Amino acid sequence: MSWDRFQKYFLDLPELGFALDVSRTGLDDAFLAKMAGKAKRAFSAMKKLEKGAVANPDEGRMVGHYWLRNPKVVPRGHKTIADGIRKAQKDIASFAKDVHSGKVAGQGGKFTDVLVIGIGGSALGPQFVSRALGSVKTDKMAVHFFDNTDPAGMAAVLDELDGRLGNTLSVVISKSGGTPETRNGMLVAKAAYEKAGLSFAKHAVAVTGVDSKMDKQAVAEGWLTRFPMWDWVGGRTSETGPVGLVPAALQGLDTAALLGGAAKMDEATRLADPLKNPAMLLALAWYCETGGKGKKDMVVLPYKDGLELFSKYLQQLIMESLGKEKDLAGKVVNQGISVYGNKGSTDQHAYVQQLREGVPNFFATFIEVLEEGGAGVEVEPGVTSGDYLQGFLLGTRAALAEKGRNSLTITVRKVDAFTVGTLIALYERAVGFYATLVGINAYHQPGVEAGKKAAAGILAAKLKIQALLATEKAGLTAEEISGKIALNDPELASKLLESLAANPAKKVLKVPGTTLAETKYLSA
Ligand code: PA5
Repeated sequence: MSWDRFQKYFLDLPELGFALDVSRTGLDDAFLAKMAGKAKRAFSAMKKLEKGAVANPDEGRMVGHYWLRNPKVVPRGHKTIADGIRKAQKDIASFAKDVHSGKVAGQGGKFTDVLVIGIGGSALGPQFVSRALGSVKTDKMAVHFFDNTDPAGMAAVLDELDGRLGNTLSVVISKSGGTPETRNGMLVAKAAYEKAGLSFAKHAVAVTGVDSKMDKQAVAEGWLTRFPMWDWVGGRTSETGPVGLVPAALQGLDTAALLGGAAKMDEATRLADPLKNPAMLLALAWYCETGGKGKKDMVVLPYKDGLELFSKYLQQLIMESLGKEKDLAGKVVNQGISVYGNKGSTDQHAYVQQLREGVPNFFATFIEVLEEGGAGVEVEPGVTSGDYLQGFLLGTRAALAEKGRNSLTITVRKVDAFTVGTLIALYERAVGFYATLVGINAYHQPGVEAGKKAAAGILAAKLKIQALLATEKAGLTAEEISGKIALNDPELASKLLESLAANPAKKVLKVPGTTLAETKYLSA
């Protein structure tokens, strides 16, 4: 790697405590020249988006996450939006203050814990930020999450809160207000509060779309308060809205600095010059590495424990935004970039072996944090474990380059609220640019909706099987049951029966046959 090439493709933004090095990707002047037209169109589309154009055509929605950290850029004619953002931020700060002071309290007294209930874009951002910025020493409240419909997972979280539910504030987050996993989490939490002789409503807060099912429930049941989710903010780009700010403010994190970092990065990523705009440079590097067709996976390796969940957060932001069957013209393109990663140097002892020597189907993103943190203990004369961390990052990067495996490197000064804000804004913008470069809608998620519909059909079939077997004494095979309820899918019937039989509360008895086809099921 030449020093000249490094300098040419190294973008340093000291005022942001941020730098991006794409010199170890395939990007060069010829590629930039080839992409100039596409980049110009992406800049122009982004400008229109920020000015309020309907940038999510399928859902007929504006896309306004950039307004969340600077209401001054809300387009003319939408004063109510700017006012709504400011009011929500003020309300969140004042609610958190009242919770911290004990003015708003639970039935057990001052709130000490927060239980966030949400999934996807309504959980991953809050989880990432909570982990990146939280500290047992300074946090005002301990934050816990229900982010799935797994009863065992939720029971484990409730065990952590055992005896403290009267001091636990539940924050239920769902833009649509109808996501099954979140509804289930809320009902499981409600049952736990009731079992402890407590009222759920007196410990519950909603973050949801105005007039959504959950919003109406919160009003009807008299929950403590509600914060809005607006239709012009997508789930995976909602971290700088009430979705992210409510949990962060309750935890006691510096939400003003988070918003400030995002706003500063927004300014930097509005520059219509690919070599000076970190988000466009990132999007172009992705395009260069993947051929604009997802040919290579993106491996995200932050060398800092606090950023561990960034890879998971990015996985959703990038894959749910870019993983699309059709382009904007309706042509089948099957777009996307696969994203995975965890943290360095831990991953060097997991899959980095394959990255260096195995199938060359990826490009890496190294995230370097300059400030070591910790106690500065010397593990060898003059050497801290932070020196080792940097050594491993640079060593691995060089080892990959030696074998012709490309990478890009993001360097930040430290992991604080400002920096986390810059990283969120950087990737939100890069995803938006990349989507325009490849001609897709980044802001809808038809695949997620399809999964929700399929699950509803399966649950209905399971209920039919339970009803059928409630009076069944002789026993029926999966094939017979499938026929009787007109499912016409013995394999699915068999899967559902095995689950029913494994859970005594479902009252289904399994009589094993010599083969699965001969196995019978009846009322227990
Ligand atoms: O990013 C998205 O849009 C999704 O991941 C949603 O956040 C997720 O499906 C949860 O939706 P909701 O907030 O409506 O419960």
